[in-house]
Amino acid sequence: MSRIEELHDRARAALDPVHYDYYAGGCGAEAALADNERAFAELALLPRILRGNDRRDTGVALLGDRASLPVVVSPTAFHRLAHPDGERATARAAAHAGTVLVTSMAATVAVAEVTAAARAVRADAAVWFQVSFQPDDDVTTALVRRAEKAGCTALVVTVDTPVFGRRTRDERNGFHDLPPGLAPENLRDLPGAPPGGTLPITMSPEFTWRHLRRLRDLTSLPVVLKGVLHPLDARTAVDEGVDAVWVSNHGGRQLDAAPGAVRALPRVAAAVAGRVPVLLDGGVRSGADVAAALALGATAVGVGRPVLWGLAADGEAGVREVLDVLRAEFDHVLTLCGGRRPGDLTADMVVRREWPPL
Ligand code: FNR
Repeated sequence: MSRIEELHDRARAALDPVHYDYYAGGCGAEAALADNERAFAELALLPRILRGNDRRDTGVALLGDRASLPVVVSPTAFHRLAHPDGERATARAAAHAGTVLVTSMAATVAVAEVTAAARAVRADAAVWFQVSFQPDDDVTTALVRRAEKAGCTALVVTVDTPVFGRRTRDERNGFHDLPPGLAPENLRDLPGAPPGGTLPITMSPEFTWRHLRRLRDLTSLPVVLKGVLHPLDARTAVDEGVDAVWVSNHGGRQLDAAPGAVRALPRVAAAVAGRVPVLLDGGVRSGADVAAALALGATAVGVGRPVLWGLAADGEAGVREVLDVLRAEFDHVLTLCGGRRPGDLTADMVVRREWPPL
């Protein structure tokens, strides 16, 4: 059992079963969820040899930031369900690891406190803010201003949620609301919110590229588009001036018929053609998964649930452990593959496990 699987077991034991299901579950029959990990398991790496690589550097440049490993923390909601310190603990761990934390619009700690927690560890800690368009433009604008004021260095706009996916486990468990004492803190004091209360997050299929343009005009922060699977959308996104494209099926929580995320990566990477960085998340559980995604065209990957498992099992230390394990495994695989830096991993080094055809 890998160290991350051990943390997953400990998290399962520590969490309220309803909250465990909220974190672990996907939508529908959980086919997309399962395919995220299966798609990685179907890949193998063809190592290169005798390349004389003594010194390695696992760092990558991501927009204006630098990550010491090509793994960022994907935005996930409600960290205080996992640990009382919630997103503060996650922020400290990501800062210690020297990587980017993408804090969710649905975080249980306000973004300004998240950036403060990260910067207390490291002055140049990178925190990006995940936002979903809201039907009232003023609400979206207020969220963007809040992220800017907090010192976030990029916006991650999630666009795979025209409507919430049907979360089978949550429906069965009747999980709809945060327990008393916890709230989506970024949604306080917004236009239309009740005094002292929070606004509900609204998903809507009404949004178009026009909304993205409006957002781009609103801010000078780099904009990352998260939830891209179709190569034509990737191309449009780049033409529209996004700063990075993030391949994701939302951890199998939106469209159950969606493919495992890494299956969509090669075509998206081809469509983007190096014009902007490509990120990917969904099913990344090992350093070999990281290496395969990079070889197929990602600049970096995100991890969602592994971070939640670390947080629930052992707070900040647990998240640090997840990131440390991924760093060590990635460095090891990179060495075994004859690479010195992430960019040395190329698409010709990835094959299917059943390759070659008989
Ligand atoms: C998510 N994800 C997500 N994405 C987003 O853009 N905003 C959000 O608030 C959330 N919330 C959220 C909660 C939970 C419990 C999960 C599991 C996921 C999706 C997330 O960013 C990411 O795409 C997936 O988690 C990646 O898949 P893995 O690493 O969990 O397999």
